[in-house]
Amino acid sequence: MRAIKFVVVGGGRIGYRHATVLRTLPNARLVAIVEIDVEKQVNLASEFQVPVFESIDALAKENLEIDVVNICTPNGLHILHALQALNLNCHVLCEKPLGVKAEQCQKLNAHKNRKNKQVFCVMQNRYSPPSAWLKEIVPLLGNIYQVYINCFWNRNEAYYTESNWKGSLDLDGGPLYTQFSHFVDTLLWLFGDAQLMEASFAKHQLQGVTQFEDTGNFSFKLKQGGEGQFNYTTAAYAKNLESSITIIAEKGNIQVGGQYMEKVLFCNIERYDFKSIPKTNAPNQYGQYSGSAANHQHVFENVIAHLNHMPAKLTTAEEGLKVVELIEAVYQIREEKYQNF
Ligand SMILES: NC(=O)c1ccc[n+]([C@@H]2O[C@H](COP(=O)([O-])OP(=O)(O)OC[C@H]3O[C@@H](n4cnc5c(N)ncnc54)[C@H](O)[C@@H]3O)[C@@H](O)[C@H]2O)c1
Repeated sequence: MRAIKFVVVGGGRIGYRHATVLRTLPNARLVAIVEIDVEKQVNLASEFQVPVFESIDALAKENLEIDVVNICTPNGLHILHALQALNLNCHVLCEKPLGVKAEQCQKLNAHKNRKNKQVFCVMQNRYSPPSAWLKEIVPLLGNIYQVYINCFWNRNEAYYTESNWKGSLDLDGGPLYTQFSHFVDTLLWLFGDAQLMEASFAKHQLQGVTQFEDTGNFSFKLKQGGEGQFNYTTAAYAKNLESSITIIAEKGNIQVGGQYMEKVLFCNIERYDFKSIPKTNAPNQYGQYSGSAANHQHVFENVIAHLNHMPAKLTTAEEGLKVVELIEAVYQIREEKYQNF
């Protein structure tokens, strides 16, 4: 198998994780990092022993051999950096969300088609055993009646004040982009297209700290039939409380929950005997807070396999766009009705 050469753009929390995990994979080579912060440049160069550039333009001047550019910069910069990476004739692996404006994501997708390159999204939750199990099991359920997703997390003041982009409308966008786009992806990946019905929002804390809600919900109708509701908050007391999905369907009911959708809580399906599923990896730890399950190695392994013409499970840019389109539709209602966040 050919070793695939990666560059990580954005050496913050998740970019550091990309570089660290890439270093452990036999068929991955980390060839450079791009990071704008001077202090981080020094630390990254010393830790990873690769050249660290201040911009993609500076990287371009070196004419390095690169296969894939991993975009790990703030949400609102993903499209700009992905376009720059495509212009280097590289494939792109973009952290979630693909962007914060559907129109920009569409332009990116058109550009990658013109360049005949691939853009993949990081949706590492798809590799968690409960998610993989749900993907197998949902087709056994017959007609879907109802789907409920609950994401009740904690993001405190320090989380936002320690960052120069989290909490801002332009670069972060809101909890559906930064915390819960994984679960919007789960919804669309398992059930196909969903049409937004209604949405509402509230802000219970962190007035003046963030420019958006900490709590919200939206209801939807599935194109295949059935309906549901997505409830979320980042104002759960002290720590993450729950990420769960409940499915009510013609031939069975399922509930997967825990803090990170890591446990099958209930399963009753016609002519199906649930045994067990493998244990889920612990979530990524970022200092005081926890993120989603640590599965980035599976994302990278699948990119490497795909670029070696082997079968692979990847999240395409078209799927990434669908997530952004649904979130954007929800946030359109926020823009129209809630101007005081
Ligand atoms: N898949 C996941 O579970 C997961 C988890 C955390 C974050 N993320 C995503 O990863 C992205 C980064 O999040 P984070 O928590 O690592 O943020 P972060 O602030 O820790 O890191 C972002 C880094 O990008 C750098 N940067 C900003 N502008 C730049 C530019 N023009 N050129 C080069 N570097 C630049 C910053 O200096 C910073 O080091 C976000 O899109 C976030 O949604 C995904």
